[in-house]
Amino acid sequence: MEFYLRSCLKTSADPKDAKQEIEQLLTDAEKTILTKGAPEGEGAKITEWNLSDSGIFITIVSGRYVRSHDAIARLKKPLADLLGKKYRIGIRGIEAEEFKIRLPADKGLKNKNIPYVKSVTFENNMLELELEMGESEMRNRVPDRILSLIEDKLKQDDYGAKAEHWNLLWESEDKEFEYFKDPTEDMLENGWLKRGVGRGQWVHGPKITKLFRTFEQIVIDELVKPLGFEEMIFPKLVMWDIWKQSGHAKGIYPEIYYVCAPKTRDPEYWEDVMDYYKVTHEVPTHLLKDKITEPIGGMCYAQCPPAWTYFQGTTIANESVPIKIFDRSGTSHRYESGGIHGIERVDEFHRIELVWIGKPEQTVDVADKLHEQYMKIFNDILQLKWRKAWVTPWFMAQEGLVGLSNEKRVGTTDYEAPLPYKGENGEWLEFQNLSINGDKYPSGFNVKLQSGDELWSGCSGVGLERWAAVFLAQHGLDETKWPETFRNRFGDMPKDIIFY
Ligand code: SER
Ligand code: ZN
Repeated sequence: MEFYLRSCLKTSADPKDAKQEIEQLLTDAEKTILTKGAPEGEGAKITEWNLSDSGIFITIVSGRYVRSHDAIARLKKPLADLLGKKYRIGIRGIEAEEFKIRLPADKGLKNKNIPYVKSVTFENNMLELELEMGESEMRNRVPDRILSLIEDKLKQDDYGAKAEHWNLLWESEDKEFEYFKDPTEDMLENGWLKRGVGRGQWVHGPKITKLFRTFEQIVIDELVKPLGFEEMIFPKLVMWDIWKQSGHAKGIYPEIYYVCAPKTRDPEYWEDVMDYYKVTHEVPTHLLKDKITEPIGGMCYAQCPPAWTYFQGTTIANESVPIKIFDRSGTSHRYESGGIHGIERVDEFHRIELVWIGKPEQTVDVADKLHEQYMKIFNDILQLKWRKAWVTPWFMAQEGLVGLSNEKRVGTTDYEAPLPYKGENGEWLEFQNLSINGDKYPSGFNVKLQSGDELWSGCSGVGLERWAAVFLAQHGLDETKWPETFRNRFGDMPKDIIFY
């Protein structure tokens, strides 16, 4: 890996009188400031330099330690001191005349449209990027971010070729099923729900709603109460700032519903839209486009990220950890890939999200207790066939990354269940997850612990549609066939609404 930078330090006057001293400074620098912080022999090297009547041209080649753009920044001040004091010459800025990053790769890049990258070439297992940027971008670490981006992209391709990250952790005993219908179809036929007007959206009738509420009550009785979680209300319109800090801004664009605001509330500004509608009975979306802002954010996607605003920039008292909270205050939205799906893959869904924050051992401990309680719920109350698997952490997946976390207990456990109507070899449905997110969120939102100990967090999303999809696929719609343990909690089935 190599950075090659030919730069020019612009001077306010001809620097030729200082030539010897500049030479001395550059020779010394190679042994001092250009190697500082780098392993032996890995410092930045000046391969060429010369003067013009308005600048000092310096070519620096480096590896990944003291990178060329950092090296030139390190040279600027001593050169400015030298020229300023004795020669009254100022340095006006640094220009990158030629700036390249070269790194080994087994293939080129698909997307070559990267900010500040003029060209990308691939030859002899070397990827070469030609950069174009000013001093402030160099100072703001843009070249380093470009390098990380490219390294991520290359890694991504590597992983893509390998098997998916999925390791079985636990599996329940086999079960005989008696019901083999697609419950969504069955519910449509029996009036349990109707398709919403929106994509992947449902109007849930009284029966399935009661099912959701019973699930919710189980979560309250078996998880929230015994473990001491407190309810909070997390925002459901999520601003870019949240997603910048949570990492989502790196990758969720294809999957979110965007939100725009009106440019003004002034009714006059909207009069043409109103008139258009009154005359044509069509909503003039082509007019709306120009009257609303650019997207200010999106609809709730992962549920927990906006909760962190409550903790952002704070120091939590020792006595408050582990913090255990949950939210069930609204819908989550995802732009799902096409095709008609049942309630198991929807654009608008209902989820309870449990979040906990504490020292690493506390975070792991809460996770373990939740796993235990879930085991009880799925085995003893819902009586499902299911399994748990260790997968790519959701916080990585949602940033567009693949692979596993480096830390042993940090990562996501998916809970999956078979849908009998899909047959013996049908794909199992993920119906909830539980994650230990390590220090990702406390560090992203700058949250500390009074004792100075490391702070971790975890979260677990309980998808009500997913629980229903699994429960109904395995037990059917006839409540008299449901496990006794669940019927006790469900009570009487609501009456049908009859249509003539
Ligand atoms: N926040 C987690 C997720 O999005 C759990 O709901 O998967
Ligand atoms: Zn979460």
